[in-house]
This record gives sequence, C-alpha cells and structure tokens, in this order.
Amino acid sequence: SEKKRFLTGVKPTGEVHLGNYFGSVKPCIELSKDSKNEVILMCVDWHGLTNKREIVKPGQLTHPLISIYLALGFEISKNAIILQSDFRQIQENAWYLSCATAVGQLERSHAYKDAIANGKQPTAGLFFYPSLMSADIVTFDSQYVPVGKDQSQHLEYASDMVKLFNNLTATDVFIEPTPIIQDVPLLLGIDGDRKMSKSYNNTIPIFTTKKELEKKVKEIKTDSKTLDEPKNPDDCLIFQIFKTFASTEAINYMKDRLEKGFGYGYGHAKKDFVDEHERVFGTKRELYEYYCNHYSEVRELLQPGYQNAKRYADSVTQRARNALGL
Ligand code: TRP
Repeated sequence: SEKKRFLTGVKPTGEVHLGNYFGSVKPCIELSKDSKNEVILMCVDWHGLTNKREIVKPGQLTHPLISIYLALGFEISKNAIILQSDFRQIQENAWYLSCATAVGQLERSHAYKDAIANGKQPTAGLFFYPSLMSADIVTFDSQYVPVGKDQSQHLEYASDMVKLFNNLTATDVFIEPTPIIQDVPLLLGIDGDRKMSKSYNNTIPIFTTKKELEKKVKEIKTDSKTLDEPKNPDDCLIFQIFKTFASTEAINYMKDRLEKGFGYGYGHAKKDFVDEHERVFGTKRELYEYYCNHYSEVRELLQPGYQNAKRYADSVTQRARNALGL
C-alpha cells in the first residue's frame, strides 16, 4: 500500500501521566488520525520483563494502557494496537538478528553498560533488549519509528542489525527503519526538581479521581509571589504542566492572567488547572473505565488491526526463513 507504516512501542508500567501524554500518547494519536499513515502501536510486555518486577495478573497492566489510547481517540479502524506477546514471530526474528550480531556490539548498549556500572546484575534479557526491539520493528515491515530522544541508540541498533542480517543473507529481507525522534522539551514533575516520572512519584495522572487530582495539583511547587504580583509564565511550574494538555484558549487565558498578576494567584491557577483537566479528560475517563470493564469489546475493536499485523508478521518471518535456508 502507499501508506506510511509507523510502529511504536509502549511499555506497560501501570500509570500514564501528563509527561507520557504530551511526549508520546498524544503524538501517536495524532499520527493515527492521518489517513495517509498506518500506525501500529505495540504494547511491549516482553520488554517489561527485562528488569525484576512483580508478577501481575494477565492484562492487569496492558488492558488499562490499551483502553487509554482508545478512550483518548486513537483511530483504531485504520490502524492497529497489538500486544507484543501475541506475536511469537518477534521472538523468532530476534533470534535471527542476534545470530547476525556480535556480542561486542550488544555490550555497547547504554542500558546494559549503565546496569553494570551501577553494580546491578543485568539479566540476559536486558542484554538482548536491542535484539528484541529491533525484531519488533522489522517483524511488521515498519518504515518509521517514532520514539523519544532516549531511544536513539536503540534505533541505531535496529538499523545496524538489519544491515548485518541482510548482508549475511545477501538479501533485503528486513527493512531498515527511519527513526522519528520526538524532541519534546523536558517536563518537570510536581516537585519541580526532576523530570515527571512514576519512579519519582511526582506525576499528574491522566485519569484519576477529582479528589486525587486536586491533591496532586495542590502539591505543584510554586514560589512565594503574592496574589497581585505579575508572574512570569515560563517560571511557573503550574503553567508549564498546564500547557501539556490545555486548550489554546485556556493556555492564553492563564498566561495573560499570570502576567498581569492583579488578583490572580497560584491558588487561582491551580483551580483553573483542575477545571481544565476535568474538562479535557473527565468525559474520556468514563469511556476509559467502560473499556477497562468491557475488555471483550475492546478485543473486538482490535481484531482487524490484529489480522493485518499477523499478515505482515507471517510474511516477514517466512522471508527470513527462506533467506536462511530454513
Ligand atoms: N524501548 C522503548 C522504550 O523504552 C519501547 C519499545 C520497545 C519500542 N519496542 C519498541 C519503541 C519498538 C519503538 C519501537 O520506550
């Protein structure tokens, strides 16, 4: 087809916050709405196993994640959302890529080297992370891979491993992917110290109760400017986080009020924050909860995309087998 095929992977970590929303969820949903694109969004549950973690119930992390994308408007009818562990072809292709790659190459992985440097004992799974991620990409003949800056080495691995495999077999079985590096500005968490991240417990979730939201928003760090002092929006953490999801009108309104200062303090900004968050995500939260509680309906929605993805995966994997004489 003439569509551009995108693949992106998202790890099921148990919470989706405004940092994720703005950095990856929203851009992915936008891509899915352009009919010239075919977007395969893959929930990478195998990647989630490379580090020690608790064993959860099947679907406990992945169903809510998929429901979020659907509730927020991912255009499922022309694209796909799939679960990595449903596609054994990925493991097969990961093996083929690994067999074309030197150990020394994988030893240069930042994630692996960092683990060693921090005195951890990395699993062999972490060592093979680049093989698995490269296999994710090649298994669906993906041309474009939208990722954050922190993933650029992984995308280099994908290109290198594709070339190594194709050279080894004197074929062009695997497609070399083009990274789409999303250069989003760093979003600080509510502590104002570190990047917004679940591991620092400084996030504002997308879907939460109003009570919980109000509590988190109250915690957003501010300076001690008084009600009537003019405030620079660029220095105002409330405004920085607000910008990730608010409408243009709401953004302009808050900017204007902060700059003028008079009668508009941080308490007002926080109230406006909560109201806008409720307006943007509140109605979608109902749909989200519906999807979580009616997951068999979600499976139906995913079916057509699954079928396409399976066709791609079967065809690529057969090509790889032929190339290797298997
Ligand atoms: N490594 C990526 C991350 O940590 C997730 C990922 C796995 C991915 N497979 C992928 C991203 C394939 C893009 C394409 O965010």
